[in-house]
Amino acid sequence: MKNVLFVASECVPFIKTGGLADVVGSLPKNFDKDRFDCRVILPKYLCIDQKWKDQMEYVDHFYMDFYGASRYVGILKLEYEDIMYYFIDNEFYFNGPRPYGDMLWDIEKFTFFSRAALSALPVIGFQPDIVHCHDWQTGVVPVYLKDSFRGGEFYWNMKSVMTIHNLKFQGVWDYKTIQSITGLSDYYFVPDKLKDYENGNLLKGGITYADKVTTVSNTYASEIQSEFYGEGLDGLMRARQNDLWGIVNGIDYDLYNPKKDKFLVANYDVDNFRKEKIKNKKALQKELGLAEDPKCMMIGIVSRLTSQKGLDLIDRVMDEICQDAIQIVVLGMGEEQYENMFRHFAWKYSDKVSANIYYSEEMSHKIYASCDAFLMPSLFEPCGLSQLMSLRYGTVPIVRETGGLKDTVEAYNEYENKGTGFSFTNYNAHEMMGAIRYAEKIFYDRKRDWNRIVDRAMMADFSWKKSAEIYEQLYDLL
Ligand code: ADP
Ligand code: GLC
Repeated sequence: MKNVLFVASECVPFIKTGGLADVVGSLPKNFDKDRFDCRVILPKYLCIDQKWKDQMEYVDHFYMDFYGASRYVGILKLEYEDIMYYFIDNEFYFNGPRPYGDMLWDIEKFTFFSRAALSALPVIGFQPDIVHCHDWQTGVVPVYLKDSFRGGEFYWNMKSVMTIHNLKFQGVWDYKTIQSITGLSDYYFVPDKLKDYENGNLLKGGITYADKVTTVSNTYASEIQSEFYGEGLDGLMRARQNDLWGIVNGIDYDLYNPKKDKFLVANYDVDNFRKEKIKNKKALQKELGLAEDPKCMMIGIVSRLTSQKGLDLIDRVMDEICQDAIQIVVLGMGEEQYENMFRHFAWKYSDKVSANIYYSEEMSHKIYASCDAFLMPSLFEPCGLSQLMSLRYGTVPIVRETGGLKDTVEAYNEYENKGTGFSFTNYNAHEMMGAIRYAEKIFYDRKRDWNRIVDRAMMADFSWKKSAEIYEQLYDLL
């Protein structure tokens, strides 16, 4: 039996801003329970829904010296769907309406969390064989495990895994500040450790010191070894390539299940989607005030609104696309520039474009189920979960061939009758439009072939089964 601890900054169902939360909330459930005791530790943010806070149980508390003060560390626990979750409580750090905000404050907050999470383990009485860290917020954990925590008997043999969900965010600030926050010695602030020119870099520390490094698709694992995708760390990624595994994400097939989804007007599966799926589209057209035409091709976008997601391409050709017989439904929040862009198009093409600039689990499920196609033309995409949700709901993805999009969406080939979606290669707006227009053509002129794409999309298996086994193999090596 191996003990595994996930250390992360977000996790479904407690707190979510993006795909990281989906992964941390679903992967642990998929490990073989006879071989792995996997638990999860998270910050107890003020913004976690009261419903969950009411179910948390106080475990213990202690004081920890951190960044010049003695800080309160409370520990709470909650068992949910057979997984034990621990929460680190500190009202000074985990207040605020969202998990993330100001960068410097986030660096201090998550360094506190990382240190507190490790310090809490003997108090909880859980001794992991493997500490599995996720993204820059927990990048200092592998460093601490090789440094100040090394001495004690409790920690000396603990191994760490660092998973990169997004290399763009690294937790970077001038190195003197990072040094005083982390309390690490001069030894670490050299270019082959945590230093990055004049900056300190937490993710770089995690990648350097973790026993194994993973990222969330095979293609992204090779992309980040190149300058374009490497975000300044491509040299380090190449240096660690023998320990770097690309393991594609899955999704929670119970939570995302068109047959049982309680948010839908009509449930469906691969046998009856031809009749039933369209009922969801009708209902959504009505709810969002779009032209009520069930035959019209509806394209969905559910996304954080940021440049990563290829929204500049959409901006460039939106007027042209809106000349076609299509509807576009957007759900997303993020950079103001993109929020306003979609608001503008929704105003300009009011019966064709619906811009929903907010966050809603319910609306996301309705969009995955109701649309005919799903657009995700990302500039880069470590894995992407939205296209997997779309496949599951028989909503045909149109994607750029990058990262996990390339690994999970098979391009339609009309000669061999193969493929689960449409794709294009270069980051170019008219190439994207070409893919959209090709999809339109199949949708309108060759409905049978379209429905066969939907068939294949719904049959593709992106549950966690295969990938969880690969993580288990990785744990077995440590
Ligand atoms: P990323 O992690 O880069 O944001 P992913 O595709 O991996 O991209 O995961 C995004 C997750 O966030 C999906 O579960 C998607 O449904 C969800 N999501 C994104 N924006 C919204 C929103 N505005 N409302 C509800 N869910 C959203
Ligand atoms: C990141 C990536 C996304 C990935 C998710 C979960 O947010 O942007 O591509 O699916 O993490 O791993």
